[in-house]
Amino acid sequence: MTELLPATSDAIERAAAVIRAGGLVAFPTETVYGLGADAASAEAVARIFEAKQRALNDPLIVHVEPDRWSTVADAGRLSQAQLDRVDALARAFWPGPLTLVLPKRAHLPALLSAGLDSVAVRVPDHPIAQALIARSGCAIAAPSANRFGHVSPTTAAHVLADLDGRIDLVLDGGPTRIGVESTVLSLLHEPPRVLRPGGVTLEMLKLAGVTASAAQDAAHAAAHTNDAQPAPGMLASHYAPRAAVEISADIVQLLARHEAHQHAGQHCGLLITSGQRAQCVGRHPQFVMGDSVDDIARMLYAGLRALDDSGVDVILVTQVQPDGLGLAVRDRLTRASARRAEI
Ligand code: TXA
Ligand code: MG
Repeated sequence: MTELLPATSDAIERAAAVIRAGGLVAFPTETVYGLGADAASAEAVARIFEAKQRALNDPLIVHVEPDRWSTVADAGRLSQAQLDRVDALARAFWPGPLTLVLPKRAHLPALLSAGLDSVAVRVPDHPIAQALIARSGCAIAAPSANRFGHVSPTTAAHVLADLDGRIDLVLDGGPTRIGVESTVLSLLHEPPRVLRPGGVTLEMLKLAGVTASAAQDAAHAAAHTNDAQPAPGMLASHYAPRAAVEISADIVQLLARHEAHQHAGQHCGLLITSGQRAQCVGRHPQFVMGDSVDDIARMLYAGLRALDDSGVDVILVTQVQPDGLGLAVRDRLTRASARRAEI
């Protein structure tokens, strides 16, 4: 059985004991819920892969306390310029939704990084996540707390829907604030490379003086290949609901597609913004995400899951502008829609 506890101080203490004992705890971060285990324990890390049914070639992110990145990353293998870059990024974005790929320290289990010589590290900006790390005394390996390839969880209920009975404990800290995962930035490339767009936007990185390469290219490439992964874990069908996801250029096209699908006997769900509501009156089921790109990012996964749960065949959504968090939203929508090719 999986225990579900409101994240009180006592519950966090209990969760820390579970982590120390090699168990699995799902907990909220500012992005999505993570499935945590002691990063230094090969057995605990193996349990994460088993619970999620995660492909063994997909490396995990390690969550640490502020100023502790060098307990998992090997600072001795970084040049002075790279060290300065880590410092600048840490000052600008940690705690926060930025994950850095750095050289891995040798004591960590190979499985953690899928056999790579690198490790992905971040400092989450969430009091429950931070308390769990501090009280367990462990660096915590945590991928998103969903079944492999499925939509990431932004509530404790989402976690249970995917992992009930497969993990020890879920700390419920309410819905997450950002809603899409962290930005994964590799500092092992020159210039640094965005492997996954996320909570820290390209605009924010640029303001901090980091020119990162190939964010859109990587997302695009990942969305169009299933075998040769441009980066570990960048499978095209990641973040997919069960229903097919179809992206329209605008609301007019979406409504036309709705008619066409209905004509073909397909049951459709509409994933829309508040501004699109008036044009979608009488069309059900529909899920309204809000209006700003931040609202859309926060509600995207809840919307995909809710429409999926209502049993639709196709989820219809319009494309978003690739500015700010819009780039991450686009990336996830593209991956969700790539699922179609597999069916
Ligand atoms: O917001 C987030 O990042 C959430 C919360 C829980 O922190 N975590 C998350 O983890 O999204 P996950 O496992 O779903 O995604 C981790 C991704 C991998 O799929 C891979 O693309 C990248 O991070 N990654 C991890 N280690 C890497 C490495 N050594 N080299 C390259 N990419 C790596
Ligand atoms: Mg994930």
